[in-house]
Amino acid sequence: MIPEAPIQARDRRTIWIVSGGAEAVPGIERAKAMGLRVVVSDGSGEAPGLALADHPVIVSTYDADATLAAARDFRQRHGPIDGVLCIAADVPLTVATVAAGLGLPGIPVPAAQLAMDKLAMKRRLVEAGIPVPWFAPVRSVAELQTLLAERGPQLVLKPVDSRGARGVLRLSAGTDPDWAFHHARSVSPSARVMVEAYLPGPQVSTEALLIDGTGHTVGFADRNYEHLERYAPYVIENGGEQPSALEPDVCQAIAGLAIRAGRALGIETGVVKGDMVLTEQGPAVIEIAARLSGGWFSTTQIPLASGVDLIGAAIRVALGERPEAADLAIRQGRPAVAIRYFFPSPGRVRAIEGIEAVRALPWVHQLGFFVSAGEVLAPVTDHTRRAGYVITTGDSRDEAVARAREIVESRIRIRTEPA
Ligand SMILES: Nc1ncnc2c1ncn2[C@@H]1O[C@H](COP(=O)(O)OP(=O)(O)OP(=O)(O)O)[C@@H](O)[C@H]1O
Ligand SMILES: [Mg+2]
Repeated sequence: MIPEAPIQARDRRTIWIVSGGAEAVPGIERAKAMGLRVVVSDGSGEAPGLALADHPVIVSTYDADATLAAARDFRQRHGPIDGVLCIAADVPLTVATVAAGLGLPGIPVPAAQLAMDKLAMKRRLVEAGIPVPWFAPVRSVAELQTLLAERGPQLVLKPVDSRGARGVLRLSAGTDPDWAFHHARSVSPSARVMVEAYLPGPQVSTEALLIDGTGHTVGFADRNYEHLERYAPYVIENGGEQPSALEPDVCQAIAGLAIRAGRALGIETGVVKGDMVLTEQGPAVIEIAARLSGGWFSTTQIPLASGVDLIGAAIRVALGERPEAADLAIRQGRPAVAIRYFFPSPGRVRAIEGIEAVRALPWVHQLGFFVSAGEVLAPVTDHTRRAGYVITTGDSRDEAVARAREIVESRIRIRTEPA
């Protein structure tokens, strides 16, 4: 499987991992396998990663100052911390704040601030000449109505600082501007909303590790949005697959743009995750995240499809090491990989059927559920409402996708009844 990173701990160095969520668990395990002392911080005492940590620390992953205070306290009691990173949690500001406060490697705090603010990020990208959708802040319903009148309804309204597609709305002539504005604003921690032109075209996820300004793209997946109409006005991604169906030179252009965008935000060494669109005019940036991705992309799908130990490499970078380019080179002969999500009918979950038979299939790499029997499922409005996922492999992209679809469409049944 994944080659062991060629490192031997000099002594037991300490890595601080911000987030102990389920998706961080493979990263926490990787850090331990690298011989590191692992501190995990998370605001929820239930977070599964805390149980694996050498030192669990209860502090909100979003609270940068409290995490820095906890890290200083830890250092006093337990000795040096050598690196900090987050895994599958969108908290680059917490990580950058701890890194700056303790003098550890990390991206600059201003870069992390830009990555946490979709409006400031896009302003910076425009200054750097990076193609992004037209965008504008929206301060009121009246302002939204004016923009709709001027530009037409082909707009996306979104909170400036949320995630998981919460409050991201693709507007249409039928959308009530008053409802849309208040809905998007309700999920913004700073109560700020923006609009963007909706960019049609294939959407891809890229993930690169930048080392001293040189980007190494190890993840490149086509994102699946076949349910756009079904869940409108919500924008729900249904899965993704590697390798991309796009031509290699197009992939290179998209990956290169994401790396340029990351550098424009001020990242020279660190992870750059791109949400990209291929428009008729060429690639454009929807968003850059300054951290390892979630959705089992960085931890599972990328190593499976590329053979690259991205998490191990990112941990080494967080410790101030420099992985070789060869460590980040995509291996030949890797399987195609697909992920698809479950979207059962809303209601109370009666049963989830077919799990054991599906887990026994050799091409099912991972099957997971976020819901269990008895739970009441609300209608899907964002990515946190997906019910589960399956990750499959295949000899070709089409085979991996067909297998994943078969599982979500027929082999697994999530039975619900009216609540
Ligand atoms: N201007 C746009 N044009 C086309 N698609 C868009 C646009 N804005 C957002 N989307 C789609 O909606 C998704 C979610 O939007 P965005 O990334 O801004 O929100 P988010 O809350 O950060 O979501 P996530 O955490 O999934 O990245 C994008 O990844 C993209 O697929
Ligand atoms: Mg996003």
